[in-house]
Amino acid sequence: MIKMKTPEEIAKMKAAGDILADCHKEIAKLIAPGVTTWEIDQFVEKFLKERGATPEQKGYSGYEYATCASVNEVVCHGFPKKEPLKNGDIVTIDMVVNLDGWLADSAWSYTVGEVSQKAADLLEVTRQSMYEGIKQAVVGNRIGDISHAIQVFAEERGYSVVRQFIGHGIGKDMHEAPEVPHYGPAGRGPRLKEGMVLTVEPMLNVGGWEAYIEEDGWTAKTVDGSLSAQYEHTIAITKDGPVILTDQGEPR
Ligand code: MF3
Ligand code: CO
Repeated sequence: MIKMKTPEEIAKMKAAGDILADCHKEIAKLIAPGVTTWEIDQFVEKFLKERGATPEQKGYSGYEYATCASVNEVVCHGFPKKEPLKNGDIVTIDMVVNLDGWLADSAWSYTVGEVSQKAADLLEVTRQSMYEGIKQAVVGNRIGDISHAIQVFAEERGYSVVRQFIGHGIGKDMHEAPEVPHYGPAGRGPRLKEGMVLTVEPMLNVGGWEAYIEEDGWTAKTVDGSLSAQYEHTIAITKDGPVILTDQGEPR
């Protein structure tokens, strides 16, 4: 069952999303060679607390941290670590913010110092692919229209789209119906209606799409060791089109 949200509920999720967006903007300033993702995680906890919000991922299915921090070939769900980030790394910070029981979810990939052209291009195409998907999130379209737009955009540019991890509905729960794959045929899946709130969160790899999960039960890595990036927004479907609830006001 897809739980539709009223405009008032969407406003509450937007309030959570605003805090999350502000948090990402602060993270962007902090990321540098020598900084650890452990420190970023600590910063996030403190930042959310100051804003009266809580990190929903902490304690979710036994996950122990406020953020996921996925470096280079880590696709998603990496643990924050006390190991310093190095010049040339890319790192995705993903988090879910809870404000008064309503959630917002957003991941962002960051460059550490000077990165290779290959890494910079991956980030750019991954971010754009997310917006290509979001553009399709209009009343009357289907979930598959979002999925397909992302896959076509990514594959035309030589990247692969991760299959194992997908977007989702979100509200008072982190993972609600419907599922939002980032690949697949257009014109399939549930029809988009006013009041749906979804995440669009493509993970793109430089090499193949296959990922595996490490023995810690969480960390997902590319099978071929190639670089992986991810961008994620929480969006509301409205009669005026998709509204990004975690918008950082970045140019696009
Ligand atoms: N934020 C993730 C998502 O995009 C979920 C992270 S899994 C958790 O769906 F266990 F860390 F919460
Ligand atoms: Co997320």
